[in-house]
Amino acid sequence: MEATKDFGLRKVSSICSISEMDDFDLTKLLDRPRLNLKREKSFDERSLSELSIGFGLTRGQDNFDNAYSPGGRSGYDTPASSARNSFEPHPMVAEAWEALRRSLVFFRSQPVGTIAAYDHASEEVLNYDQVFVRDFVPSALAFLMNGEPDIVKNFLLKTVQLQSWEKKVDRFKLGEGAMPASFKVLHNPDRKTDSVVADFGESAIGRVAPVDSGFWWIILLRAYTKSTGDLTLAETPECQKGMKLVLSLCLSEGFDTFPTLLCADGCSMIDRRMGIYGYPIEIQALFYMSLKCSLAMLKPDTEGKEFMEKIVQRLHALSYHMRSYYWLDFQQLNDIYRYKTEEYSHTAVNKFNVIPDSIPEWVFDFMPTRGGYFIGNVSPARMDFRWFALGNCVAILSSLATPEQSAAIMDLIEERWPELVGEMPIKICYPAIENHEWTIVTGCDPKNTRWSYHNGGSWPVLLWLVTAACIKTGRPQIARKMIELAENRLHKDSWPEYYDGKLGRYVGKQARKFQTWSIAGYLVAKMMLEDPSHLGMISLEEDRQMKPVIKRSSSWTC
Ligand code: GLC
Repeated sequence: MEATKDFGLRKVSSICSISEMDDFDLTKLLDRPRLNLKREKSFDERSLSELSIGFGLTRGQDNFDNAYSPGGRSGYDTPASSARNSFEPHPMVAEAWEALRRSLVFFRSQPVGTIAAYDHASEEVLNYDQVFVRDFVPSALAFLMNGEPDIVKNFLLKTVQLQSWEKKVDRFKLGEGAMPASFKVLHNPDRKTDSVVADFGESAIGRVAPVDSGFWWIILLRAYTKSTGDLTLAETPECQKGMKLVLSLCLSEGFDTFPTLLCADGCSMIDRRMGIYGYPIEIQALFYMSLKCSLAMLKPDTEGKEFMEKIVQRLHALSYHMRSYYWLDFQQLNDIYRYKTEEYSHTAVNKFNVIPDSIPEWVFDFMPTRGGYFIGNVSPARMDFRWFALGNCVAILSSLATPEQSAAIMDLIEERWPELVGEMPIKICYPAIENHEWTIVTGCDPKNTRWSYHNGGSWPVLLWLVTAACIKTGRPQIARKMIELAENRLHKDSWPEYYDGKLGRYVGKQARKFQTWSIAGYLVAKMMLEDPSHLGMISLEEDRQMKPVIKRSSSWTC
């Protein structure tokens, strides 16, 4: 545990390259007494070695080595990431930085976040003038990668302060650990004061609390720590308490028979009714990732150790559950298709009593022979077979997916390119629901009509996540193709929030323009592809203990 802790927080800066890191670690290891060599390898060390394995296995390496600069990052000028390369930066990069800086929000003259959209042309502002926790993540990563960590630190401290507010919906008090979906800074020009109002779901359309906010906060705290090497922020009593409050909410015992986290519809990026209630993949993947991040950042005092023990147990159960029951590939689909039902007792194969007739027609055609994915939801007699981009990418980044599963997720994207990528990366989910099903599932939501918004729309923000997944699985060429698609349209269309249509060809019906996370998502994708060592900020390696024990057969000899 001690080793995991040390290394989980050690500085692996985006400022130095992978090869530098390897050298650095090697010399350090050689200097160490022999005993130390036996220490458990850390997330970080593993991430680096496995990353280089990933690179080694890259299919069709097409100049990837050139894109990866062994010289490390060049400096702190904006935009740092493009300055280093011999090729001219895409003109969109400078535009994007300008737009990102325009979206900055200040509290007492300090930058604390970015607004969701800077769209003055839009008639209704709604809450797009607020700083959303989930939306700020790609902005934060862009700033970290550009050597500007202060805004991220300010944001982390501001939001953890908001967490301690008393939150109520009507007369009901929300759990202490809940983090806001968004907050707004109010400036009083007369008094020259700034104040903050936050929304924990009590103002949100549908009144749903964002389960993802707390997880993103923890993931970002680790990204900050990893990128800057500044351990002091995560170690502050505020941040330690912030983590523990989020963890208490999701590790508490109840009536659950599954290690997954039970959620209301609309509790994440998909913040409207879309049939994701239950155990949605997006939340489970973020939950898993934030448990691993917390494990690396919690101080091992008496209370901290108790949390760490609970986390380790939950991680084991959660990874087993997800890898076994959420995973779908051709073989698995065929097995489910032939399931017997009404099995009782421990010997049941069809544990959740899924009725094969409930498998939707589309999935039989959609499933390629090569590839697979984590399905949307699993609960008694219910499997939501839809494919969701965010959950699958986070499963790769957190190593919730095994290396084989990660490769299969990328295979599926390649095999089903027109459906999942089309003309604008990448679909939030596939397929869209229509007609009667749309009436029942969305409650006739006019914003979520088929192939629009959350219902099969294409979201440029997801580009950063899928690029990170591409790099981790050694498929930079896929990311490059997607970025090229985005470059054909994003700037010309004024950085829309989402695109509509089966191929994602149309600017979304009600999409905001100058949507900050579309801008930041593009920048992060670009910077990561140019300097893959940035990946360490948002990627975790597989925990050795989580791997199944491979037993040698009795005939095995040396
Ligand atoms: C929409 C999205 C949500 C996002 C918010 C602000 O409500 O569904 O995911 O956080 O806009 O951009």
